[in-house]
Amino acid sequence: MLEIDRLGFAWPDEAPLFAELSFAIAPGEKVVLLGPNGCGKSTLLRLINGLIFPTTGEVRWQGRRLSPESLRDREFSRAFRRQNTLLFQHPEAMLFNPTVRDEIAYGPRQLGLTDAEAGVDRWAAELGLSDQLHLPPFALSGGQKQKLALACLLVLDPGFMALDEPTAALDPRTVGWLVDTLLASDKTLLISTHNLSLAAELGTRALVMGETGSLLYDGPLAPALKDLDLLHRAGLAHRHRHRHGDHDHAHLHTHDWEPE
Ligand SMILES: Nc1ncnc2c1ncn2[C@@H]1O[C@H](COP(=O)(O)OP(=O)(O)OP(=O)(O)O)[C@@H](O)[C@H]1O
Ligand SMILES: [Mg+2]
Repeated sequence: MLEIDRLGFAWPDEAPLFAELSFAIAPGEKVVLLGPNGCGKSTLLRLINGLIFPTTGEVRWQGRRLSPESLRDREFSRAFRRQNTLLFQHPEAMLFNPTVRDEIAYGPRQLGLTDAEAGVDRWAAELGLSDQLHLPPFALSGGQKQKLALACLLVLDPGFMALDEPTAALDPRTVGWLVDTLLASDKTLLISTHNLSLAAELGTRALVMGETGSLLYDGPLAPALKDLDLLHRAGLAHRHRHRHGDHDHAHLHTHDWEPE
């Protein structure tokens, strides 16, 4: 479904990211993306969503390379935008319609999908936004904005969803709903998070990135979450130094999670 092939990217005046990153995601996989602040998780998700393009290497969607040219092909672009969706870490950037109702209906209308209105009511209800449909999106709370952004994705019934730190803004009940709804579905998921206690529930495969987006681990999620050395190298565990008597003593702490 998705292939990342020797990917490299650099923001202007910034050090290069990813160092020939390669991996593939097959339909139905639930992948959790872990890594320290600034390692390039959000950048990677934007590359995968065709919002920015690689400096070196390729991102391929269903065998076709993502580029400004390929996305100018209307038919490919329509199919791609319907199927490959991204929930932004800070969704404010993607909300611009006058009301919550228009916001959720925007994607289906753009893509000419039938039943846009039924979809709006259904997903607003699922996400607890039925009473907010008349409000301007900027009037919502941070978590409600995230729910709205999620509704905008779900109304398209996409095959692939990249979710950038969805657990940071959502309340536990909504995260629980997300896990129950999405993990049980046949959707392909790529979810970035720092939250190790939730990570175990968010997928079955882990991609762990180190500084500047090098890939430290690609494999089953459960063993990665028990590997303190790996988590430490990925900036997800911290080595505290406590004084015990006369000597320093280091412990690894993951703060929100204690491996068995
Ligand atoms: N729009 C941008 N313009 C310039 N540099 C950027 C931009 N977005 C990100 N960067 C840089 O790219 C690097 C990777 O940032 P990115 O947001 O992808 O990291 P991240 O892994 O998502 O971090 P976090 O865990 O804090 O969300 C950082 O050094 C950041 O400063
Ligand atoms: Mg990020």
